[in-house]
Amino acid sequence: MTKTYAEIPVDDLTEAQAEVELARLAEDIRYHDKLYHQQDAPEISDADYDALRRRNDGIEARFPALIRDDSPNKSVGAAPAAGFAKVTHRLPMLSLSNAFTAEDVADFLGRIRRFLGLEESEAVDVVAEAKIDGLSMSLLYEDGRLVTAATRGDGAVGEDVTANVRTIKGLPETLKGAAPKVIEVRGEVFMRRDDFHALNARLAEAEKAKTFKNPRNAAAGSLRQKDPRITAERPLHFLAYAWGETSEPLGETQWQARERLAGWGFEINEPARLCHGLEDILEFYDRVQGERAELAHDIDGIVYKVDRLDWQERLGFVSRAPRWATAHKFPAEQAETLLREISIQVGRTGALTPVASLEPITVGGVVVSRATLHNEDEIKRKDIREGDHVIIQRAGDVIPQVVSVVLAKRPGDSRPYAFPTTCPCPLATPVVRPEGEAVARCSGGLDCPYQQVRRLMHFVSRDAFDIEGLGVENIQEFWDAGLIKAPADVFRLGNHREAILARERWAEQSVANLLKAIEDRRRIGLDRFIYALGIRQVGQSTARLLARTYGELATWQSAMIQAAQERAAAPEAKKPAEIGEAYADLCDVEGIGMNVADDIGAFFRDPHNRAVVEDLAAELEVEAVAAAAADSPVAGKTVVFTGTLETMTRSEAKARAEALGAKVSGSVSKKTDIVIAGPGAGSKAKKAEELGIETVSEQEWLERIGAGG
Ligand code: IVH
Repeated sequence: MTKTYAEIPVDDLTEAQAEVELARLAEDIRYHDKLYHQQDAPEISDADYDALRRRNDGIEARFPALIRDDSPNKSVGAAPAAGFAKVTHRLPMLSLSNAFTAEDVADFLGRIRRFLGLEESEAVDVVAEAKIDGLSMSLLYEDGRLVTAATRGDGAVGEDVTANVRTIKGLPETLKGAAPKVIEVRGEVFMRRDDFHALNARLAEAEKAKTFKNPRNAAAGSLRQKDPRITAERPLHFLAYAWGETSEPLGETQWQARERLAGWGFEINEPARLCHGLEDILEFYDRVQGERAELAHDIDGIVYKVDRLDWQERLGFVSRAPRWATAHKFPAEQAETLLREISIQVGRTGALTPVASLEPITVGGVVVSRATLHNEDEIKRKDIREGDHVIIQRAGDVIPQVVSVVLAKRPGDSRPYAFPTTCPCPLATPVVRPEGEAVARCSGGLDCPYQQVRRLMHFVSRDAFDIEGLGVENIQEFWDAGLIKAPADVFRLGNHREAILARERWAEQSVANLLKAIEDRRRIGLDRFIYALGIRQVGQSTARLLARTYGELATWQSAMIQAAQERAAAPEAKKPAEIGEAYADLCDVEGIGMNVADDIGAFFRDPHNRAVVEDLAAELEVEAVAAAAADSPVAGKTVVFTGTLETMTRSEAKARAEALGAKVSGSVSKKTDIVIAGPGAGSKAKKAEELGIETVSEQEWLERIGAGG
C-alpha cells in the first residue's frame, strides 16, 4: 500500500502531510489525465477527478509555499498521444476553475469585482451556459475556411484530427457571412445519449468491437480513429463556445460573440442565459439541474463567463484557467451500502485513522469498497457503527466519505463504535489523544513497528531518497525479513545480496539494479536528507529552507541539537529570544515558528533519533544546497505598491508581480527591494527614501516587467 494522507481533511493537514499529498495528487492527476486525454479510458468518474483537483486546490490555497513546479494547475490535459501529427495552438487552450457551492459562485463574483475595482452600483453581467461533457477542440479558420482541427492535448500542443473533424455533420467547412481573416474557434465535440446507446448496441453486435463506457469516451474514441471513414459513421456533434486567436474582435460581449458564432453556422451551447447577478445565476443553475436528465446530451455543470469582453481581457488568467470564467459543477452522486467493519490505519507519526470497509457498491461509475472516517470525533458525531447502512459520497475528497447513517436500517443489537485504546500493532501500546486535538496517536513512538515501516516508506519515497526499485512494497518485504530496520540499513542491503537473491521474485539482474539504485543515492542533497527524516511538520519546503540556511549537514545537526537543548532547559518560555540563540536562529528561518521549532527540537532531543541521523550520515555524502536561480527580472524580489495605481487595481498588480516570482509585501522594511509609488504615496515612499530603497513609478515598473507601453 502506498502511504497517503488522502483521508485527512485539508484543514487538518500539517505542512509535511500537505507536501506529501501535493506530490501524490500531482502524480495521480497526471495519471488520470493521461488515461482520459490520450487513451479515452478513464478509471475514475469525473466527479472523482474533480475531487482530486479540488483537494489539490484546497491544499495549495492553504500552503501556497508548497505549490509544486509540476502542479496540476500549471498544466492542462496530457501531452498528445503518438500517432497523430502535432498542432501548436496559436493561443493556449485553457481549462476552467470549479465552483461547487453557491458560496463558491459568490466568491467568484466577489473576486471579479475586487480585481476590477468595481463600484457597488456597477453590475457584472454573466453568461451562463450548460457545460457539455465532451472533448474540447480548436478549429482554425483562415479566410473563412476550416484549415486545421486539433484536440486540446496539453493545452499548448494538441493532435491534428482535421480529417476526422471534417466528417462531423453540421460543422461548417466555410463560415457563413463575413468572417475574420483568422480565427481559432473553440468548442466541444460530443455524442448525444441516444446515439451513444445505439452505437454501443451496434458495437456489441459486431464481433470483437469493444463498447464505450459513456458518451464522452465514445466521442473521444470515435474522433481518434486512424480512418476518417469510421469517424464519419459515428454520430458526433460540435458546439462552439469560445475562441483562441482572432484577427478581429467578435463583439463587445460574450453574448454577442455567441450570436456571432451561431451566425457563422455553429451550434451553440443551450440552455443559456444572460444573468444579472447571483440570484439570477443560481436560479438558472437550479432550473437546468432539474432538467438535466431530459437533455439530449450529458452536461456536468454550468459555465459562467463575464459578459464584457474588455473585462475578460483585464481579468486574464491564473495559471491554467481564466479569472473571468468558472464551471459550477453539479453535485456528486451518493449511494447507500452496508458498512461491514471499521479498521484502523497507523501513520508515520503514529496517527490512528479509522477506515470503513464497505459492501462494494458503484457510485458515479466507480466501485467503492472503503471510505474514510477521518477520526474518532467524526465517528461519534455521525454515530457510525459497524453493521450500519450508510450513505456514501464521492465528492469533496479523494476517497469516499460517509455522509450519514440510515438509522431505519440499524440492526437491533448494534452498539456504538469503541475507538481503540491501544495501537493495533503487535506491541499494543496505549493510544493517547492530547486535549483539544482531533488525532489519536499510538504512544509507542519509535518502537511501534507500524510507525517504523511507515517512516521507512517515507524515507524512500519519491521526494525523499527516491530509490528506484525500492518501493513501499519492498520496504514491507525487507522489513518482514529483518533486512531493514532503520534508514541506514537501506545502504547496507548490499551485505544481504544472497539473502535477497534467495527470496521469491528476486533475480541477479533485479538485485543488481536495486543495489545500483541505492549506490546512486549515497550522494544526496541536504534538503532531501532533512525531508527524508520525516520530522513532524518538516515538509519539502521547510526542509529546503533549513538546508539553504544551514548549508552543511554538520552545521545543521549541531544547531538543531543545541536548539533542542535550549528548549528543554526553558520549556515554559514563550518567546524564541528567551530560549536561546540556536533556538531563536531556527525561528528566524522563514516559515518556521515555535510550533515547528518545537517539533524539530523534540526529534533531536530523542537519543534514538540522533543515533539514526549519525548512523545514516556515516553511510552518505550529504551535499549542500545552492540558492534558487532567478528567471524573471523581478523574481525573488520583495516589492511594495503604494499610492494610487492608474492602470490596474491593487490585486491585479499583486497577481502580476507574484506571477513573475516577486513577493508582494504590505510594508516597507530593509528587506524591501523595490517600491512602486503612485500619486498620493505617503509614509511608505518616505520610508523607502530613508532606507535608500529603489522607488519607481507605475509606468517604470510596467516597463521593467515587460508590460509597459
Ligand atoms: S469555456 C478558457 N464553455 O469544459 C476556457 N467550456 O472543464 C474556456 N466546456 O476546457 C472554456 N462546456 O472543454 C466553456 N460552455 C462551455 C463549456 C466548456 C464544456 C469544457 C471545455 C473546458 C472544460 C473545462
